[in-house]
Amino acid sequence: MNLLVTGGAGFIGSNFIRHMRETHPDYLIVNLDKLTYAGNLDNLTDLENDENYRFVKGDICNEALVRHLLRTYSINAIINFAAESHVDRSISDPGIFVTTNISGTQVLLEAARTYGIDKYIQISTDEVYGSLGATGYFTEETPLAPNSPYSASKAAGDLLVRAYHETYGMNVNITRCSNNYGPFHFPEKLIPLMITHALDGKELPVYGDGLNIRDWLHVRDHAAAIDLVLHQGKSGEVYNIGGHNERTNIQIVELILERLGNSKALIRYVEDRLGHDRRYAIDPAKLESQLGWQPKYTFETGIVETIDWYLENEVWWRDIQSGQYLNGYDFRYSEPANG
Ligand code: NAD
Ligand code: DAU
Repeated sequence: MNLLVTGGAGFIGSNFIRHMRETHPDYLIVNLDKLTYAGNLDNLTDLENDENYRFVKGDICNEALVRHLLRTYSINAIINFAAESHVDRSISDPGIFVTTNISGTQVLLEAARTYGIDKYIQISTDEVYGSLGATGYFTEETPLAPNSPYSASKAAGDLLVRAYHETYGMNVNITRCSNNYGPFHFPEKLIPLMITHALDGKELPVYGDGLNIRDWLHVRDHAAAIDLVLHQGKSGEVYNIGGHNERTNIQIVELILERLGNSKALIRYVEDRLGHDRRYAIDPAKLESQLGWQPKYTFETGIVETIDWYLENEVWWRDIQSGQYLNGYDFRYSEPANG
């Protein structure tokens, strides 16, 4: 297969590309990424000389470029990870979320329709379902009720994907997963932010009462699930992905401090996030029963491995802190002619 992976220089996209390289070394993978602040070519240095891998710097909103890539590389499937992904940024600056997460999705869908692409997968999120109370789980039938500009833009993208299936009969899937963790997680998100702050002896900012619950999924288990959906997903279906690992934020923060041998005195309760969703929890029964997916990581082993990864890869996150990671771009990417 020839795959167009968008947003492949980000956290989940880069882990997915590495997973696919290991499981399907013969597939051509074209990684289209705009290299926003969240895109980092250091996530994929091991693939730089791989003959079945191409990196293209560009925007999913650039219709001519997307069409050019589908034609040039005879793409069979598109897996769309490209997005603005951080809730806090969507609260302070929502506009770019609408552009990338909604308009960008439509550009990809339209190009896929024009060129008769066999499969389109939209990487979505459990946040489109809104917030849960103390009990219950999100299933694929849960009504969409997004609460932040980020989740609203993701929900709108999902509805466009659905519409392209219903209207044009396109072979699409939408995956909705819970919070990912693992290597190459950008240090603005809870787990890497707390690890890097603890290592620097800085305060750990916990929003509100610290009792909001997230359902953690190892990024490699997520990648394996998308691989299954790519090959076996039934046209038009939504698949929830989650590993039954609910934790309060304060549990996560205390676990990190304990593992690193830091004092809880570093914890600082700060003003809550606006519209902060209280609890997410995924029911992955459909993916398990229909496609045979099972997570390999327990949270206990995955989080320890992740903390150790940040200890062993300090240069990676220090380069992000200093902005150094942005400097190599000019000579490391190739930009093709459009159209
Ligand atoms: P990320 O922010 O780490 O990476 C996003 C990538 O997309 C970056 O490489 C960025 O440069 C690229 N990008 C942004 N705008 C672009 C554009 N206009 N054109 C091309 N590339 C662009 O995000 P992530 O955490 O890896 O998330 C990937 C996808 O998974 C997103 O769609 C997100 O909504 C979804 N998701 C993430 C999580 C999570 O826990 N991280 C959970 C559920 C769903
Ligand atoms: O559920 C899937 C979603 O998970 C994805 O769709 C998003 O792209 C991804 O960013 C993530 O969203 P969250 O808002 O859940 O992740 P974040 O790491 O920003 O925050 C996790 C929890 O930790 C949330 O309850 C807010 C809290 N938090 C976060 C930060 C950054 C803090 O208490 N302090 C912080 O400094």
